[in-house]
Amino acid sequence: MLVTRQKVLRRFWYPVMPMAMLEDGPKPFTLLGEAIVLFKGAEGKPVALADRCCHRTARLSRGFVEDGNIVCGYHGWTYDCTGRCVRIPQNTDAAIPANAKVPAYHCESRYGYAWVALEDPLMPIFELTEAGDPGYRQIDQFYEVWNCAGLRLMENSFDMAHLSFTHKGTFGPKNHVPRKMTMDVSDWGLETYVETPVTNPAIARSVVGSDAEETVRIMRGTWFLPFSRRLAISYPNGVRHTIITNATPIDDGSSMVVQWCYRSDSEDEVPAKDIIAFDRAVTNEDKYILESTDYDACIDTTRRVEFHMDSDRPGLVMREKLLKLLRAHGEDEVHG
Ligand code: FES
Ligand SMILES: [Fe+2]
Repeated sequence: MLVTRQKVLRRFWYPVMPMAMLEDGPKPFTLLGEAIVLFKGAEGKPVALADRCCHRTARLSRGFVEDGNIVCGYHGWTYDCTGRCVRIPQNTDAAIPANAKVPAYHCESRYGYAWVALEDPLMPIFELTEAGDPGYRQIDQFYEVWNCAGLRLMENSFDMAHLSFTHKGTFGPKNHVPRKMTMDVSDWGLETYVETPVTNPAIARSVVGSDAEETVRIMRGTWFLPFSRRLAISYPNGVRHTIITNATPIDDGSSMVVQWCYRSDSEDEVPAKDIIAFDRAVTNEDKYILESTDYDACIDTTRRVEFHMDSDRPGLVMREKLLKLLRAHGEDEVHG
């Protein structure tokens, strides 16, 4: 699927940047092929505008923020949070022309990130029960570009068959027949439940709270259409580890992987750096194989060669749902 050609994808929220990155001025981002600039507006709220000054086309991200407005670094034209030009420094007497403005996008701060929807969102940003719960700490993990499509990453997140192969260097079970998975499909996603045996290498032991050679993982996955997932893992010692992974679409072939997690233990019990190190090792295994996949593979499940195995079912449902969404929103040409 070519994400930049499917306009309905502009109607979802995506986390595009940690709020902390906006502390020292505006920053550029490319979302679904569109160049945007993010900055902190009045009262610290994030703002997303088209990253192109309407005077002589300079990137606004190369300017600076002043009193909650963004100032172009070329001649100082100044834009408010709606994208309206409110100041032309060289033009002291004449009124500012009505067409002196740049497109503005929906933008909100949530879970420590700036979220953007390029057009009216079809659904709100998903709720996370762990957020704000004093029983959990949030650990920001990864913010990095992967050369793969969001759908490839989502399929992978619910695919139990890859553990023994892709993750044989970390936690993949030796016996590659996964336990039974149950799945519930909802309007805007799906939920899975699986218990699977896993190996328990040295790097994982403090993180999962077990010194055994092998252990069991209980995993509850939620897919939020189109490119986000929550994976709630329960470890044998009762610790809960919930990973939030988003594949924010940059363009057809690349995604910004935005991942954080919630842990029910404390920094004294297991330091965040150990948790990040283990998830880093696992994530690098996924990245290596996913960057070899085709970002424009066919999403029409009737046209694919598939075995409808347990491990492929979530991916099939995702592609069916996406296809239905694209058709419901009048996408005249479904790519892939
Ligand atoms: S190009 Fe932005 S003010 Fe001239
Ligand atoms: Fe994986």
